[in-house]
Amino acid sequence: MQTLNVALGERSYPIYIGRGLLDDGALIRRHIARPRVAIVTNDVVGPLYLERVRTALEKQGVATSAVVLPDGEAHKDWVTLNRVFDALLEGRCERSTTLVALGGGVIGDMAGFAAATYQRGMPFVQIPTTLLAQVDSSVGGKTAINHPLGKNMIGAFFQPRAVIADTATLDSLPDRELRAGVAEVIKYGLIRDAEFFVWLETNLEALLARDAGALAFAIERSCANKAEVVARDETEQGERALLNLGHTFGHAIEAGLGYGQWLHGEAVAAGTMMAAELSRRLGWIDDVVVARIESLHRRAGLPVQGPRLPLQTYLDLMAGDKKVEGGQLRLILLRAIGEAVIHADAGRDAIAAAIDARCA
Ligand code: NAD
Ligand code: GLY
Repeated sequence: MQTLNVALGERSYPIYIGRGLLDDGALIRRHIARPRVAIVTNDVVGPLYLERVRTALEKQGVATSAVVLPDGEAHKDWVTLNRVFDALLEGRCERSTTLVALGGGVIGDMAGFAAATYQRGMPFVQIPTTLLAQVDSSVGGKTAINHPLGKNMIGAFFQPRAVIADTATLDSLPDRELRAGVAEVIKYGLIRDAEFFVWLETNLEALLARDAGALAFAIERSCANKAEVVARDETEQGERALLNLGHTFGHAIEAGLGYGQWLHGEAVAAGTMMAAELSRRLGWIDDVVVARIESLHRRAGLPVQGPRLPLQTYLDLMAGDKKVEGGQLRLILLRAIGEAVIHADAGRDAIAAAIDARCA
């Protein structure tokens, strides 16, 4: 097992990464104040892993209850979130009950938002079961639900007490979901870790083949990158925005097509290629760099072009991005592999041209 730390003063917490951690009730118990938990999961992950987590906790004397939500990004909404509150209230869960998220990023984001707001905040533990959640969404305390007009628009910053990433859960993850997670892994290489990008160029096939060593390394390196950024800028006043490379374009794809049509990681991949295209047009990176980024995404089986939505749809949805400040859209662009910047002056025409060049 590897342990990393997210350094946030008295709200610091560990990220545990290893095989078989789901069954380690004592490890989970260490991060639960009172011996009562409510586990939020969905109807895909629940049948696979819920009983194991319950058994492990109950052996430690922890009383458990479960809330099983419908699966999918299309359910990351108020109606489904309210089912968590219904279950917590019906079960007379107290403020000291710990909420445990068992699932991918959709469950983690929704359960986290529920934990942030139920009785004004209850302890929260993340048990991420997708690659994307293990390398990104379970770390850093962003919680949210979607709105038809924008992705993750309603939410809160609320840090978990611990992140317990059992890499053995990835054995059951469908290939397409694994690949979607790789998009967020590539992101870290692109924004701040050129050496990791080169490692990915060499080891991508091992990662896709779920080689245990490659997976453990990629998860640990991704989390280390994220933990460092979050520790410096928890609430995204500056540097944390870099973690959104490709996301402004990608969120427009997800909302524009209807949530759940493209996976989040797929939309991020196409969005990253749009950001690379715009960076190339600004003269910051050259064709060779764009080709390297494209090649890695292609090898990962990720889309390198977005869907041909009307350009105005892209621009309208992007205009509602959370990084808009004073009406001005701020995009994350690339100065080099391993160096991202926040840029507010690309201009509507250049942005539209880059999107147009990267739509199929
Ligand atoms: P997801 O949660 O929808 O999970 C993907 C699919 O895999 C689902 O069908 C799920 O039920 C299934 N699944 C999960 N674990 C499994 C397992 N071990 N075996 C078999 N099937 C399994 O999607 P995701 O890619 O994990 O997360 C995407 C979400 O994360 C998006 O909503 C995105 O906005 C959010 N996100 C949040 C942050 C953040 O910082 N909070 C960062 C990145 C992404
Ligand atoms: N996934 C972007 C962030 O956590 O800031």
